[in-house]
Amino acid sequence: MLSPSLLSADFTNLEKEFKIMNEEKVDFIHLDIMDGNYVPNISYGPGVVKKLRPLTDILFDTHLMIERPENFIEDFVEAGSDIITIHPSTTKHLDRTLSLIKSYGKKAGLALNPGDSLDILDYNIENIDLVLIMSVNPGFGGQKFIPSALRKISDVKKLIEKRNLKTLIEVDGGIKLGNAKEVLDAGADILVSGSGIFEKGRTRENIKAFKEIL
Ligand code: DX5
Ligand code: ZN
Repeated sequence: MLSPSLLSADFTNLEKEFKIMNEEKVDFIHLDIMDGNYVPNISYGPGVVKKLRPLTDILFDTHLMIERPENFIEDFVEAGSDIITIHPSTTKHLDRTLSLIKSYGKKAGLALNPGDSLDILDYNIENIDLVLIMSVNPGFGGQKFIPSALRKISDVKKLIEKRNLKTLIEVDGGIKLGNAKEVLDAGADILVSGSGIFEKGRTRENIKAFKEIL
């Protein structure tokens, strides 16, 4: 499955980008929410997400890179998010925040940074729908894929199989047409790609090419 990250889209013409994503039927739209605190960059917030909602029926895959996400879950639910993924270190009570997401009937995701071990999954994986494996350090689009993510993907896959779960594995950062296959082969279910899809105004061609690999 494919989840284009809007961060690299043409923000002066989002209507056009959404039209292409609708016509090419991408599986999700990945929305990167950055607060300038947890990550060294600021993107956009729930107000923008709400404005985008009428442009598509495609599921909004919302990646929160913000401190204290529990304070904003309701806002993103109201804005139209379908999946809400958080980073464990951003919240003091992880289980409570994951439960809050689920209490709205939304899918909950847990993100692992390149330097994070799998330990946090041990007591949380049963409560989540998706593990987001970061293959770059969060904060910016257009970074280089960190190869150790490949082993992490297969380790998470083994854990999911061992526990007989249906948890999805999403991989985010530095995914291009050239490395998509090895990420899938390692065990990824959902590929996020920002610059690999939107750069150079070749959105439609890139989506088509990604879909062929998928
Ligand atoms: C990084 C974001 C990613 C980013 C991916 O913090 O979480 O979703 O937009 O962009 P590319 O595909 O360009 O690495
Ligand atoms: Zn992301």
